[in-house]
Amino acid sequence: PGPAADALVLYGVTGDLARKMILPALYRLTGRGELTVPVVGVARSDWDPAALHKHIEDSVRAAESDVDDGVLDKLQRSVFMVSGDYNDRATFQRLADTLREKAGADALTVHYMAVPPALFGTVADGLADVGLTDRARLVVEKPFGHDLASAQALNAQLRKHVPDDRLFRVDHYLGKEPVEDLLVFRFANTLIEPLWNRSWVDRIEITMAENFDVADRGSFYDAVGTIRDVVQNHLLQVLAYLTMEAPQTDSADDQRDAKYGLLHAVRTVDPAEVVRGQYTGYRDVRGVAPDSTTETFVALTLHIDNWRWSGVPVHIRAGKALPETVLDLVVVLKPPPCSLFPTAGDGPAPPNRIRLRLQPDAGITFFVLAKQPGGGDVATELPVSVDFRAALGPVYEAYERIFADALAGDPTHFSRMDNLEEAWRIVGPILDQTTPPLPYAPGTWGPA
Ligand code: BG6
Repeated sequence: PGPAADALVLYGVTGDLARKMILPALYRLTGRGELTVPVVGVARSDWDPAALHKHIEDSVRAAESDVDDGVLDKLQRSVFMVSGDYNDRATFQRLADTLREKAGADALTVHYMAVPPALFGTVADGLADVGLTDRARLVVEKPFGHDLASAQALNAQLRKHVPDDRLFRVDHYLGKEPVEDLLVFRFANTLIEPLWNRSWVDRIEITMAENFDVADRGSFYDAVGTIRDVVQNHLLQVLAYLTMEAPQTDSADDQRDAKYGLLHAVRTVDPAEVVRGQYTGYRDVRGVAPDSTTETFVALTLHIDNWRWSGVPVHIRAGKALPETVLDLVVVLKPPPCSLFPTAGDGPAPPNRIRLRLQPDAGITFFVLAKQPGGGDVATELPVSVDFRAALGPVYEAYERIFADALAGDPTHFSRMDNLEEAWRIVGPILDQTTPPLPYAPGTWGPA
C-alpha cells in the first residue's frame, strides 16, 4: 500500500451518503487518530462554514449515541468547503487554491466522489483541467456503470487521467469485516476446506433481505433495481469470497486474481432461472414510474463451471420490503449415504448446514444432528453457534475501513476492473427485462 495521502476531497459533502455514512465514519477515524489530513468538501450548494459545521454535527449526532465533543470539534475544524458547479472550471480552480493553502502544492490527494455517477467523469475532467490529477487518487462510489459497456466507457474516461493503481472503485461490502472474515474462516482453518467442494456440498443459498422499502430513494432505485443495486456488486463479491480458490498471498492483487478466477467460471445467468418481483405499493413511491417494471426482489440460480463447484447450484435471493434484514450464506451439505436413524419430525433427516451470517449479528452456525434423549436412536437437529460480536467485540464499519484504506493507498477492499467486468457479464442478460415482475405483499418473502 501507499504512499499515504496528504489531503482528502469529498465531492457530495452535502448529500445523503455523506450525511448517513461518510461523515460519521470520518468522525470515528478522527477519534482514533487515523484522519489527520485536511478535508475539503465540495458541493453545488453554497454553504458557509457555519452551515457545514452544523451538517457535520447533525450527521454525527444522528449516527452516534455518545458523541465526544472534542473529536467532533477537531473534525469540524479540519473540514473546509468549496462550492460550485462541477461543470465550471472556476470550481476546480478554487479547489486547487484551497488544497495548496491547506495541504501544500504537492499534496497527494484522495478525491472521493460521493456524487451521482454521471458526474464521475465530469469531476475527473475538471481536476485534469487545473492540473490536479498528477497527484490524485480517484475514489468512485457505486454504481460503476449500468452494464458492461457503460462500465468500460467510464473506466476509459477515468483512466485518461490516472493510472489503474490510482483508481479505487468502491463496493462498500468489500469494506465489511464479516465479508473479509470469509477468507479467514476458509483459509486459516483446515476444518472447512476439505468439505468445500462438489463432493460434499449439495447447494449454496444466499439471502440478502431488507425489511424496509425504497423509502425516499424512488428515483434512484427505479433506474437501478435489485440486480444492479446489490447482486451485480455486493452479492457477487460475497459469492467470490465464499467459493474462490485460496489466494497465493493476502496481497490485494492475489486476492483479486483469485476472485477473478471464480467470477470468470460463473456461467452467464439464464433468464429462465430468474424470478423478479415487485412489492405492491412500489409504483406509488415518489420518483417511481407509474408503470415501472423495475424489480424490488430477485431470486436466481447461478452455476460455477469449475472443478470445485460443477453441479452445485447457487441460489441467490435479495429484496426490499421482506420480513427481516439479514445477510445469510448457507452451505447445505449432502445427506449421509445411508439413513440409519429415524428423525424427530416427519420426513428424512435434514442435511447438515453451515450458516455464515454476515449481518446484522455476524456469526456461524453449524446445524448438526444429535441423539434425542430417551428410547431409540432418534436424530434431532441442533444449532452449534458462535456470535462474533459477543466473542470478539464490535467491528469497524465498512466506510471507516474504506476511507482509511483510500488514504493509506491500500486497494485490497476496492473492485479491480476485471472483477467488475466479469460481474457485469454474469448478470448481463437479465438487466433490462421489460416483462412485469411478479407482485408480492410487503413483509412477505417475495412472489410464490
Ligand atoms: C447499497 C444499496 O449499496 O447497499 C442499498 O444501494 C442497500 O439499496 C445497501 O440497502 C445495503 O448496505 P448495508 O451495508 O446496509 O448492507
